[in-house]
This record gives sequence, structure tokens and C-alpha cells, in this order.
Amino acid sequence: MTCMDSVTTPPAADAQKPESARAAGLIEVRLSEIEPVARDTNVYTFVRPDGGVLPSYKPGAHIDIHLPNGLLRQFSLLNPATDPEKYVVGIKLDAASRGGSRYIFDQLRVGHTLKISAPRNNFPLVEDAEHVVLFAGGIGITPIWCMAQELNAQNRSWQLHYSCRSRADMAFLETLKKLGPERVHLHFDDEAGGKFLDVAAAIAAAPSDAHFYCCGPNPMLKAFEAAAAGRPRPQVHVEYFTPKEEAAEGTLGGFWVELARSGEEYYIPEGQKILEVLFQAGVDVDYSCELGICGECVTRVISGIPVHHDSVLSEEEQAANDKVMICCCGSKSERLVLDM
Ligand code: FES
Repeated sequence: MTCMDSVTTPPAADAQKPESARAAGLIEVRLSEIEPVARDTNVYTFVRPDGGVLPSYKPGAHIDIHLPNGLLRQFSLLNPATDPEKYVVGIKLDAASRGGSRYIFDQLRVGHTLKISAPRNNFPLVEDAEHVVLFAGGIGITPIWCMAQELNAQNRSWQLHYSCRSRADMAFLETLKKLGPERVHLHFDDEAGGKFLDVAAAIAAAPSDAHFYCCGPNPMLKAFEAAAAGRPRPQVHVEYFTPKEEAAEGTLGGFWVELARSGEEYYIPEGQKILEVLFQAGVDVDYSCELGICGECVTRVISGIPVHHDSVLSEEEQAANDKVMICCCGSKSERLVLDM
């Protein structure tokens, strides 16, 4: 996951949120380095102020950055590490920024301290895949580059297809070129006459036991999912950093939620989200993106039939209806009973 700064769904007002849900388990870090790596793209390095070790993570993991302006943004970690002394993230300035990347580029400076979450991973690399094919578009390279470095270090069989509008937009270009064309296929839309990367051809050419990973803008992810539809689902891995789709009008609210552990009941009015109503009621809930893309608000469903609008659960997981993202789901049944 990299930042989803320009999505159109406004997060619920921060002032309404119980502080305990946000503050629990946060880590204080200091920004130690900012390095430009492509047009409007910087790499930011964070360390503990006391120089200590940070929690370990695997490729595909991301952290939440709690910005001093009250915004919360998620960014993938760039380098695989056990007991890391630093966290490194790549951030692109979004022309349609809602305040996240704009604030980071304009205000964050080396030496500033801020709070981050421990790493979470909704996009893990399968450890024993025979062959791995990675796809990245634009700033979607961040989790994919972490995977590529890990696969390379383990001498595994892998390939990367990385697409950007032009060379100026491509992060880590020189490093990637050194890995060789048999490993890394770089695609520049402007040098291909405006044509996008042919994801379908790359998937068709891969062996039947290959695992596929993709992170990039939504059109690329949709092309990837369509092209990989004939492959076994467990071999297809995708990470959205903006919501796959906005919840259609009339699919949110208009039902009751019962919290099984406390016995409390809340009516979710038409057009509202469960998370918003629980915030307003002062219920302490885990959440991060509020957009259905981070997985932090996942909640077990005890009874009722949810309508899923998240970009985290697989089709099979959504069809099972035993868990939901309460930041964005609706309900087909009049009542949802949740394990909280
Ligand atoms: S808060 Fe991120 S998926 Fe719900």
C-alpha cells in the first residue's frame, strides 16, 4: 500500500474519534533523511529518536503515518528488514492531494518527530512460490520493490514489470536497470506511443505455478485482475491504494448493528457507515484508512449478510460473509451482529 491521498471519499471528522483507538501502540520516530528519487517522488527515512530497533516486518507491509495536521496516511515499507533500525517509505506528491502528500512535501523536514503505527501486512509474499511475477505502476513500486529485493536476496526465481508514464517518473531506475532485462522489464508509456504495459501478455507467458503480485493505479489493477482471472486465485495477489469502487448510493446504512460483546445496538442511518456511527457513540474501534483498503477495521460477523465495499478481502472471503470492513460495508439484512 502506498498513499491514497486523492480519493474522493472524505474520512469521518477526526474530532469525533476516540483518541484511545488512534494512540494505542504508536511509535515515535524522527525523520532522518529525505531523498528525491523521481519527479515529485521522495524517499523518507524514519528512525527512533533513541536510535533503537523498530519492529520487524516482511515485504508487503505498510505503516500508518500520523501527520501533525491530524491526517493519517498509509505507506508501504521499501526495504525488507529484520530488527530494522530505520523505516523507509516512498511518497509521491499527489496533484489532487487532500492534504497528506502535500503536507509531507511542504512541511515535513529532517529532524521532525511524528508518530507511526507498527507495520501491518495485507499483501504478504508467499514464501515457497516456484516463480514470482511482480507488476508495479507508478508509486505502486514501493511494496513491489521490497518484494523484489527479498526475492533477489533469496536467489529465487522472479521477474518485475514496472510501468510509468515516463523515465522521469520512475523511482530506482538506475538500480533496476542493473538487474538486467531478463529480470526487470521497464515500460514507459510515452516511449511506447502512449500504450500501457501489456499485463495480459506478461501473465500469459508465465508458468502455471507462478504467483502474481500487482500494485499500481486502479486501471492497471483492474487489467491485472482481468488478465489473471484464469489463474488459481491463491496465486493472484493485489494491493489497492485507492478504493476499488465507491459504495453506490443506497448501499450504505438503513440497518441495525448489534455489538455482541457489549449487547449495544446502533441504528446506521441511510448513507452512513458503521464506523462513523460508532465513532459518534464513543465506541473504541480499530481503524486506519476509513476507505476499505488497509484491513485494520476488519470485524467478525456473527449473523446477518453484509454488503462488501472493501478492496482487501478476496472474492471468496467476501462471499463467506464472516468478516467485514466496518468502515465501508453495508448490509443486506436488517441487522448485523458483530463480534465486538
Ligand atoms: S479502516 Fe482501513 S479498511 Fe477499514
